[in-house]
Amino acid sequence: MSLRFASADDLTWSSDERIALEHANPRFGAVFSDHMAVATWKAGEGWADDAVVNYQGLDVNPGSAVLHYAQEIFEGLKAYRHADGSIWLFRPDQNGERFVRSAERLALPTLPVDDFVNACVRLADVDSRWVPEPGDSGEKSLYLRPFMIAYQDFLGLAAASTVLFSVIGSPVGAYFASGVKPLRLLVERTQARTARGGTGEAKCGGNYAASLRSQIEAKKRGCDEVLFVDAVEHRWIEELGGMNFMAISKDGQLVTPELAGTILRGITRKSILEVAPDLGLEPVERKIGIDELLGGVRSGEFPEVFACGTAAVVTPIGSFLDGDTDVQVAEPTGKATMEIRRRLLDIQFGRAEDTHGWLKRVR
Ligand code: PLP
Ligand code: COI
Repeated sequence: MSLRFASADDLTWSSDERIALEHANPRFGAVFSDHMAVATWKAGEGWADDAVVNYQGLDVNPGSAVLHYAQEIFEGLKAYRHADGSIWLFRPDQNGERFVRSAERLALPTLPVDDFVNACVRLADVDSRWVPEPGDSGEKSLYLRPFMIAYQDFLGLAAASTVLFSVIGSPVGAYFASGVKPLRLLVERTQARTARGGTGEAKCGGNYAASLRSQIEAKKRGCDEVLFVDAVEHRWIEELGGMNFMAISKDGQLVTPELAGTILRGITRKSILEVAPDLGLEPVERKIGIDELLGGVRSGEFPEVFACGTAAVVTPIGSFLDGDTDVQVAEPTGKATMEIRRRLLDIQFGRAEDTHGWLKRVR
């Protein structure tokens, strides 16, 4: 580890009253904590200028490559406050490793995992007052958003030689304004989010921009989110715009699309697959056809279906809209889904023993 992310001399702080107000009912990603971690990279020189500074605007020139060619990656993880006041991150090394893979795909410089983790720990430590109590929803936390952008003022199409890395923080509750109410998903059979050989496995902004038109259509049609299928045959389930997808079969299989390069290697997904046997479920990663799924939901073969991710934790799915056909899930807040959700939150908030060594202490 070479970057220290020491605090700048001129840090300013919000009052306790303001933080309490922002913690009362946080809308996902709408308010930011007082500070940010930053570092810059220059070709031939490497990483430097690391610090924790006041949250502020970036000095991005109109010619900056990120604005034109979307050479950009990001991450998402949370800082949790335990009952004894201590603050913890969940598997930040996994986010750091994914950040390296995303950087490689987007021709950005890699940031060593230790430096990535240290940046997150330093920001969560300096802004520890911004880490809420879990609250009534039992899931309030400080969402950390590390990101890296091509910073160079240059319109030639080339990998940038100047890059900015930063971590910002935002107090959050449930991702969906409706809380953990079951989601209604629009099945998107036409517009793909990513394709094989593309950037689906990288956490880069372009994947999300490509999902927004379908998301608007979903809202228009009374749905909360979109379920994307593959770009070639338009039949194999991939994931939602910002979450992985899982279904539970009536004989206790926990089925999720396999990792084939087009979906994000979700850390929540991976963690759920690892705890599934403790909950009596058999984890299965395989191709799932959309028609098989919807048929199985109708017949009761898949009585429970849910979405998972850092932002969404585990959110049950209650129905699908496929063209004009409505498909209702038999158990929209099913027992197994809610048990998985509870198990994950219990580990993250220190209410269950961290037998896998997934938590990293901030303070
Ligand atoms: N899939 C997409 C497209 C996402 O944006 C996310 C969120 O990060 C996930 C899946 C879930 O990944 P994770 O569990 O690592 O947050
Ligand atoms: C996350 O869960 O961390 C994400 O990045 C998803 C995003 C749509 C908020």
